[in-house]
Amino acid sequence: MSGGVLRAPELPAWPQYSDEERDGLIRALEQGQWWRMGGSEVDSLEREFAAYHGADYALAVTNGTHALELALQVLGVGPGTEVIVPAFTFISSSQAAQRLGAVAVPVDVDLDTYCIDPQAAAAAVTSRTKVIMPVHMAGQISDMDALAKLSADTGVPLLQDAAHAHGTRWQGRKVGELGSVAAFSFQNGKLMTAGEGGAVTFPDAELFELAFLRHSCGRPRTDRRYFHQTSGSNFRLNEFSASVLRAQLGRLAGQIDTREQRWPVLAEALGAIPGVVPQSRDERCDRNSHYMAMFRVPGLGEERRNALVDALLERGLPAFAAFRSIYRSNGFWETGAPDSTVDELAARCPNTEALSADGIWLHHRTLLGTEEQMHQVAAVVADVMAAR
Ligand SMILES: Cc1ncc(COP(=O)(O)O)c(C=O)c1O
Repeated sequence: MSGGVLRAPELPAWPQYSDEERDGLIRALEQGQWWRMGGSEVDSLEREFAAYHGADYALAVTNGTHALELALQVLGVGPGTEVIVPAFTFISSSQAAQRLGAVAVPVDVDLDTYCIDPQAAAAAVTSRTKVIMPVHMAGQISDMDALAKLSADTGVPLLQDAAHAHGTRWQGRKVGELGSVAAFSFQNGKLMTAGEGGAVTFPDAELFELAFLRHSCGRPRTDRRYFHQTSGSNFRLNEFSASVLRAQLGRLAGQIDTREQRWPVLAEALGAIPGVVPQSRDERCDRNSHYMAMFRVPGLGEERRNALVDALLERGLPAFAAFRSIYRSNGFWETGAPDSTVDELAARCPNTEALSADGIWLHHRTLLGTEEQMHQVAAVVADVMAAR
């Protein structure tokens, strides 16, 4: 309490670092080569990240948006194709497809897990569909059983947007063991970070090699004659970022353990507040990274939700409004939009409409606090709710 107002406890900071990051940066500096072609940090990060996620190969890239774009490109996405994406996601999921000249087709999400609804995805498949992109929202893995069946039935590959799902598992299987390509982000707020950065994991060598070429202007590792085998761009990660990310990866498992212990405590306390419904867990996701602590206040509406977020922020909680439905941003309509109106898409995505108007999330650093702090956080939410 300060001045009679209940305030949030002092929660851990994010990003976190220690001598491991410092040592890594000096190591990268003193190599004398600061790009991946001369140094060893990016190569090491890729090996360690792949192994950690049970994938055969990983490619480090500049950011999560580029990770998605590159992955979509090697899966054959381009002009004349369609990519199915959840309507409730960060805009990169659709922008990556649209940048390649494809049409992004938004479908609804499940109102309990906030992940893509496999039935809605199935209904949106056409002869032009090239990829279905589940987004593992806030670390909750999408229904990969139903989606794997849909992929097998239709022959359309999955691309997992795992920007929130480092270190998660579905029925004992890691993200890299689920049989599809996965794209990760290392942006400042993500579960491991170098400020910016991304990675793609691959289940086979052929896609990895193609992605390697395309992320380096189409140029093979050993080329000295400027013979570019494919088109591409420069999506290469630098050695400094990789050295920091190796240290961050070393801390990830312990942090997931902490968040796994804290979320049930916070979720129970939040769920006891009248009107508050925390994100549900599909128990088949047997390790959840908890990228965000998400909850809804059903029926609240966007304006009152935004006011609630502001009030939580004033009390010191790292609170955010949930993503806007992707089709409600101007950027979605500039290129690669489906032949529909906003109202038509909204009618097809009622759960996304609800969630984007009444959803709130707390930064994952909240879940690195003590067990006692989880009760204090919930008490602040309860107090702000009661004061409305
Ligand atoms: C679901 C999702 N996909 C992709 C991205 C893009 O990652 P980046 O910011 O590293 O480009 C983000 C967030 O940043 C995200 O939340």
